[in-house]
Amino acid sequence: MINYTEKIPNNVDLGRDRVLQRALEHWQPAYMGWWYDMGPNESHNYEVYLRTAISVEPDGWAQFGYVKMPDYRWGIFLQPRDEKREVNFGIHKGQSAWQEVPGEYRSTLRRVIVTQGDTEPASVEQQRMLGSSCPSMYDLRNIFQVNVEEGRHLWAMVYLLHRYFGRDGREEAESLLARRSGDADNPRILGAFNEATPDWLAFYMFTFFTDRDGKFQLCALAESGFDPLARTCRFMLTEEAHHMFVGETGVSRIIQRTCEVMKENKVEDPSDVRALGVIDLPTIQRYLNFHYSVTLDLYGSDVSSNAANYYTSGLKGRFRETKLNDDHVLTDAEYPVFEVVGGKIITKNVPALTALNERLRDDYIDEIADGVARWQRVIDSAGIPFRLTLPHKGFHREIGNFAGHLISPDGEVLSEEAWKNHEFEWLPNSKDYAYVQSLMSGRVVEPGKFANWIAPPARGINNQPLNFEYVRFN
Ligand SMILES: [Fe+2]
Ligand SMILES: [Fe+2]
Repeated sequence: MINYTEKIPNNVDLGRDRVLQRALEHWQPAYMGWWYDMGPNESHNYEVYLRTAISVEPDGWAQFGYVKMPDYRWGIFLQPRDEKREVNFGIHKGQSAWQEVPGEYRSTLRRVIVTQGDTEPASVEQQRMLGSSCPSMYDLRNIFQVNVEEGRHLWAMVYLLHRYFGRDGREEAESLLARRSGDADNPRILGAFNEATPDWLAFYMFTFFTDRDGKFQLCALAESGFDPLARTCRFMLTEEAHHMFVGETGVSRIIQRTCEVMKENKVEDPSDVRALGVIDLPTIQRYLNFHYSVTLDLYGSDVSSNAANYYTSGLKGRFRETKLNDDHVLTDAEYPVFEVVGGKIITKNVPALTALNERLRDDYIDEIADGVARWQRVIDSAGIPFRLTLPHKGFHREIGNFAGHLISPDGEVLSEEAWKNHEFEWLPNSKDYAYVQSLMSGRVVEPGKFANWIAPPARGINNQPLNFEYVRFN
């Protein structure tokens, strides 16, 4: 169980490590300062119907109740230790999992943890203004739940930095509160976390696409031979599932509402659809193209010696590493990657060890494709002849083998001119953003009411009715 009687709730017996406890209690006010500055705008007095972790066991870990977000019990929760756990891949395969950081991997591990940790506050910053344009009280509560849990994910990474990396770790923990999403001088580390999330369609796309990158990165780190990192990530994954649910159902409800309005009014042309106050399907496709492509970049270069080193050293595994049926060392294995050669996209086999980023990206794409197929079913069951598609993996990429090439959603290598002629059809343009934001000029917060551009969800949170008062504004 989690000890909530302490200043910092935890299940790591923090009270027995005075030095660590003091270091974290020193960081805590800085974190609160960051939350007041960069957390959800004007939300500090709201009472929000939030779930809080009460136990780290897979069943029944959540308790629901009204909480003012600054009073949320952020803390340190690790999955319980399995004494028999081993390093399951790489050159240390078969050793007992490490309970301390191996000296030779210290700086690498620190970098991995900082890079993951940096994404957590970044997304809170990206989403901080969205409360003022929420489509319902239900959705408002959901974004706040996502925000407090991203805050807790930051705590999770900061715990590791403080506990295992001494002074360097404490300095990194401070830097995590100093960087700002989109800041010119001190931006967040990864590209997608410096993009704006200007509206709720972008928010749902972000939680569907980019939080799912989070899931896959956490899954790979949950295999780590460094046991505290693995255990931390396993617990974070239980929270991540809700974020992706918010994204998938959010987009699905927008599609559903658009289809209903198209059918009722027998319109198909995007401008007619917009005249009825809902988001036309081609605009949804363009948002999808954008969020998918910037998220694919988060996996890094297709061929990467860093990725190979992380794996060989036992620091970062593959998706579902222990379920895979091979030698878990990958000395002779190969994996296909794309390359652009002479205006054509070709496939090339490279050592599997160097292609681990690409492999994780492919695992991610499989799951994304399933989600997009579920969105498609909403369109199909309305009888509307529109196909949502995932663009080619090389579309709009800035990192890896496709960087510097202009690839159409169909996978054609284009000249700059051809790209320019079509870009506005493929990526959201300023008119799209202006239109979507025009629908979201104010917030809808009457219990049970939903904005015109989105369908209500199938059910409420924690079996509450849709007209439940999910947020009290005070
Ligand atoms: Fe997270
Ligand atoms: Fe998340």
